[in-house]
Amino acid sequence: MTAGLGAAGLSLAGEAFAATEIFPVKVDSTLFKDINRAKNPAKETGLEELHVPVIKAPSKVTAGEPFMVEISVGEKPHPMMQAHYIEFIELNIGNEPAGVANLNSMGYVRPKVSFSIVLTKESAPGGKATLVAHERCNIHGYWEGTKDIEVV
Ligand SMILES: [Fe+2]
Repeated sequence: MTAGLGAAGLSLAGEAFAATEIFPVKVDSTLFKDINRAKNPAKETGLEELHVPVIKAPSKVTAGEPFMVEISVGEKPHPMMQAHYIEFIELNIGNEPAGVANLNSMGYVRPKVSFSIVLTKESAPGGKATLVAHERCNIHGYWEGTKDIEVV
């Protein structure tokens, strides 16, 4: 048992896996090296339009009162099928995790989630908070979208 684990660990540490060994479809492995963002939000590329999370939330909220944050994946509907789908959508308040939704690849759900959020004055230094949404596509990597809101 110990020898088997050691061999597996050595294999993982000593060899680089080719993307074709890991993924069932050919992928651009550079999309998995970092968080992807829209380079120019005013003029997104086709890949960005399909993957940058879009956050719908009030631009101004009252501390202590709940409000809804809706996150959808991309300006255009992203596929949700076994070969190509969104694995999860998560919301952070700045650097703090707020929630995550894991999605099924069988086509039952659309890549859109809503969270009920309450912010305090302490969570919004200077009266501002940044909502940070992430999503991961199984063949196009990890993507981020943000929205600043005012907390009064
Ligand atoms: Fe994708």
